[in-house]
Amino acid sequence: MDFPHLFSPLQLGNIELPNRIVHAPTDISSSHADGEVSERDIHHHTDVARGGSGFIIVGATTPDMKTGRPTVTCLVADGDNYVPGLARLADGMHRYGAKCAVQLQHPGRQCAIPRYNTLGAIDRVLKLPWSAGHEIIYENAEEKGKEIRAATVAEILELVDLFSEAAWRVKQAGFDAVELHAAHGYLLSEFMSPFLNQRTDRFGGNLENRMRFPLAVIDSIQKKCGKGFPVLLRYSFDEWCEGGRGLEEGVEIARMLERAGCAAVDLSMGIQESPGAGFDPMQYPQGWATYAAEAVKKAVRIPVITSHSLRDPEYCEQIIAEGKTDLVGLARQLLADPYWPLKAKYGRVKSIRRCISCLGGCWQESLMAKKEIACSINAACGNPEYAEMQRTDKPVRVAIVGGGPAGMEAARVAAERGHHVTLFEKGPELGGAMLYVCMVPGKEKMRWYLDWIRDQLIELHVDIRLNHAPTIDELRGFDLVLNATGALSYVPAVAGDASRVVPFEEAMACPRVACECYPGGRKMRKLGAGVLLWGDSYAATDTAAFLASIGKRVTIVTENREFAADCEVIHMYVLRKRFAQGDAEVLHSRPYKYPVTVITGTTVESMEDGAVVLRDKDFNRTRLEVDDVVTCHTRPDDGLFRELRAAGVNVINVGDAVRPRNLYWAVKEGSAFGLAVDRHLLFNPNHAIVDALPMDVLGQLTRDEAPSYTAERMRELVGAGAGGNGGSID
Ligand SMILES: Cc1cc2nc3c(=O)[nH]c(=O)nc-3n(C[C@H](O)[C@H](O)[C@H](O)COP(=O)(O)O)c2cc1C
Ligand code: SF4
Repeated sequence: MDFPHLFSPLQLGNIELPNRIVHAPTDISSSHADGEVSERDIHHHTDVARGGSGFIIVGATTPDMKTGRPTVTCLVADGDNYVPGLARLADGMHRYGAKCAVQLQHPGRQCAIPRYNTLGAIDRVLKLPWSAGHEIIYENAEEKGKEIRAATVAEILELVDLFSEAAWRVKQAGFDAVELHAAHGYLLSEFMSPFLNQRTDRFGGNLENRMRFPLAVIDSIQKKCGKGFPVLLRYSFDEWCEGGRGLEEGVEIARMLERAGCAAVDLSMGIQESPGAGFDPMQYPQGWATYAAEAVKKAVRIPVITSHSLRDPEYCEQIIAEGKTDLVGLARQLLADPYWPLKAKYGRVKSIRRCISCLGGCWQESLMAKKEIACSINAACGNPEYAEMQRTDKPVRVAIVGGGPAGMEAARVAAERGHHVTLFEKGPELGGAMLYVCMVPGKEKMRWYLDWIRDQLIELHVDIRLNHAPTIDELRGFDLVLNATGALSYVPAVAGDASRVVPFEEAMACPRVACECYPGGRKMRKLGAGVLLWGDSYAATDTAAFLASIGKRVTIVTENREFAADCEVIHMYVLRKRFAQGDAEVLHSRPYKYPVTVITGTTVESMEDGAVVLRDKDFNRTRLEVDDVVTCHTRPDDGLFRELRAAGVNVINVGDAVRPRNLYWAVKEGSAFGLAVDRHLLFNPNHAIVDALPMDVLGQLTRDEAPSYTAERMRELVGAGAGGNGGSID
């Protein structure tokens, strides 16, 4: 399999790109607190270059830290002191043949820092719970909103200078180009937007006025850096909201940018008011945004970059071959697998770990939580420890109990390192909780990861034992046991016949009954038309989505003040719209026959025949008629783990068996186990495996203990050293 178009060079301004694969700008939020380039920044981008991306656009870098940082640890280029760090970053990428650019971004209204009195195109209090600038620290942050004030003309002109100075530093550091971030509702994007920019001065109103600020920045950069230094601009071709930009203006902007001397246009989608289009969730199909590049290609001659949910080299090859785009931009795909280009080049497409668009690791657990970048399915993302992964010279025998994501990832990493791994799964198929979600409409991409890791385990010759729950005696025969038994549903205390409550695992039974995952069929409960789901988190959201999709009338009751507060925000944004029988931005499937109702701060007090009595936090009681009640309360299935520990077996507990959480934590903990398994099998008093001990400490813990250094021992040593001439220590 080869990809002649994907791997052909392209002239962009005065630089030749070695291939058509672009690392779409991704703020990995891994810099030092002062915005200085960190070793993690260098490690990540060097890795992307090593993987073979031809053009790497480093993510949002602020030209003015004082007035705007998009994330708390984004890169900064507002002083000459940042040049040496940026130079080391560029060097790392150049070393592997990539060309590179820095994306300059002022976050404006969407900044993480400063928290208040932020700059925008207009004064507007903002409530954007899915933005990385959203305050998660104060309880009342949403009520308070953000104080945003319209930038004055003097401030706009000051920013024009700051942008061009930052571009000069980028050039000085050795980067090949600079990109302006004018997408997703950040400052330049806000000025360009017909929906967001309500100014009445010469920076608002018609397109010419709205383009005045970004065009002034381009002009200023060209004056400062010379016309030979390529400037790109990324903008939201379609804003996917009422009153926002559509196709016609999207094309016109590309023409204006070509006239202004831009070396290329980088097309993105959406603003924070249409978060699905900006950060496509799992439901969005591959190539949904290609239409924009196709339209722009007909209007301009400069290269066009398209991105958003591009995952397969075949598809990328095809759209380049068909002339729909010049370059393909991959953002999350390179977090999930930075070696995508390399694997495509060597025809190892099946080994590509395709990003499943879950936003769990790279958004929810990192930028939204004000932490460094991560990925749900690639524990190595942003973590240099994995670069030092070593093959063992003394393999140990590892038993892993539980074939869900934590167990499979632990097996994969331990087997890669050369350990002898046996993976026990009590069911007929590997996948654990991931097997349920393959039935949830819109979550099919989860199967990509499942298929990938199962293939890896086969390639690595992991000894997989299905339909096998091992006994304690069986497990004693191994050097080390990993308990990855996941979580199980339970029924909280309730008056009436609790046995009528259906576990969500049975309610999620596939209507096809038998499939490749469950060849023998599954235990299945036929539910009535009206179903009450009792509980929260992913068990409730997935079960609701599944039951609603097969025509049930679903009501969710949760004790929590807010439903699904721990679920990924953009997926919840989409799901809430679906619950109301609508759909988000790009999707038009209207997938449910009935709306899904959510009742918060309430519990099920008692079960009656054909009904339940609900009790809210103020002790008000309501009777609700339902055919069935399904519990979505989950807790760790850790019985085996406790028994093993009591029996003195070396055992580690990971994933949902510790506490039910999400895929990110399962993979992270499973992977960390695989990385830590060590032939010395030492455990600290916290029951954690201790690897990477200093050599002397390892020796002190593992070699034969010497007799104490007593006076008698000294005499012996003196005697031995005196060579028969005798000696004295007196
Ligand atoms: C963690 C994260 C950080 C991002 N940072 C940036 C950024 O700095 N600049 C930008 O233009 N887009 C940024 N994006 C958007 C991506 O470049 C891209 O447009 C989007 O993720 C959809 O494309 P994908 O499916 O290839 O990820 C970011 C997205 C994510 C998930
Ligand atoms: S966390 Fe999910 S969306 Fe983000 S890169 Fe990883 S697989 Fe893709």
